[in-house]
Amino acid sequence: MTTKVLGYAAPSVKAPLAPFHFERRDPRADDVEIDILYCGVCHSDLHCVYGDWQAIFPLVPGHEIIGRVTRVGKGVTKFKVGDQVGVGCMVDSCQHCDPCKQGLEQYCEEGNTLTYNSHDRHDHSPTYGGYSEKIVVSEKFVLSIPTGLDLKSAAPLLCAGITTWSPLRHWQVKRGDNVAVIGLGGLGHMAIKLAKGLGAEVTLFSRSPNKEADARRLGADNIIISTDAKQMAAHANQFDLIIDTVPYVHDLNPYIETLTLNGSIVLVGFLGDLPKVLDTAPLVMARKSIAGSVIGGIAETQEMLDFCGKHGITADVEMINIENINEAYQRMLKSDVKYRFVIDMASLKQHQS
Ligand SMILES: NC(=O)c1ccc[n+]([C@@H]2O[C@H](COP(=O)([O-])OP(=O)(O)OC[C@H]3O[C@@H](n4cnc5c(N)ncnc54)[C@H](OP(=O)(O)O)[C@@H]3O)[C@@H](O)[C@H]2O)c1
Ligand SMILES: [Zn+2]
Ligand SMILES: [Zn+2]
Repeated sequence: MTTKVLGYAAPSVKAPLAPFHFERRDPRADDVEIDILYCGVCHSDLHCVYGDWQAIFPLVPGHEIIGRVTRVGKGVTKFKVGDQVGVGCMVDSCQHCDPCKQGLEQYCEEGNTLTYNSHDRHDHSPTYGGYSEKIVVSEKFVLSIPTGLDLKSAAPLLCAGITTWSPLRHWQVKRGDNVAVIGLGGLGHMAIKLAKGLGAEVTLFSRSPNKEADARRLGADNIIISTDAKQMAAHANQFDLIIDTVPYVHDLNPYIETLTLNGSIVLVGFLGDLPKVLDTAPLVMARKSIAGSVIGGIAETQEMLDFCGKHGITADVEMINIENINEAYQRMLKSDVKYRFVIDMASLKQHQS
């Protein structure tokens, strides 16, 4: 059995998103059915719709999902009807490979099942994301949202939050460490808040001088304008960890100069070839590392949500209605968002026919 659901989809690559009817499965034994209240808009949604990444169409994006449980399968133990819950970028994984056993489902050796742009492991149907009324997800991939957090501004924690939390934890950031973040967007502003929450001294690298006041309000102690070579040179050998959220091709060399002995730059944004030649000398001479990181495991995501609940950390959001999604993508391309769009899913109702 299935339930008819309304969502918003891109019918083909680069096509505007529009109302789209599809079916959600009835809950299997371990499934939770969720009425979606809010869904954040991630630059990854845009990469898929705009053809920067391979995608399956029609594509219903959205992986920063907040909602309430409406039905549970008969084997579900963690959730009950009415609970406030979240779903992030993954809805399944093999559960038996080494990474899965370690709680690193995002690195599943068989490939995790993405919330959208994937196929279900059991019935091979396409997965559809959070720009929709409902979603049905195995309870293993459903998160509890701490009471007290504003639900609208908690939505971006499910991707922007965990994607920046995971490297902060893996590189064991602690009080007094020098952390820098490249790019003040959805991921970047969460990285500042979370690094600050862990007690780090936080610096923002940005191309946008007009973001300085916001960066400081969000918790940054310093801002460096990355297009100003003098400012970059003045910060050589300073940072223990740099989280690089830039979505497009850029030159890493100037940032590597700013790492301290044993420092690491972690790429979470751009996927692909960086054509500029990499100077290995600064890496060799000061044991510096270049690394990458993708989202975070389910247990780590719950840890991040609980940390945010305890410290009152959420995203700065601009609420939009679903019919404004195409315009929101255009604004995101121009880095014109403070600092995450979140769709109020109640706005889908007027598109019901
Ligand atoms: N690894 C993962 O698991 C993961 C998870 C989620 C998202 N992502 C990826 O992370 C990237 C960032 O996502 P987001 O949602 O935070 O995007 P976003 O809100 O658009 O923010 C990106 C920021 O990067 C800077 N920027 C944009 N274009 C740039 C360019 N050409 N050169 C230099 N800087 C540029 C801008 O900051 P300034 O104006 O301050 O310079 C912009 O605000 C995307 O590529 C997304 O797909 C990865
Ligand atoms: Zn995302
Ligand atoms: Zn696995």
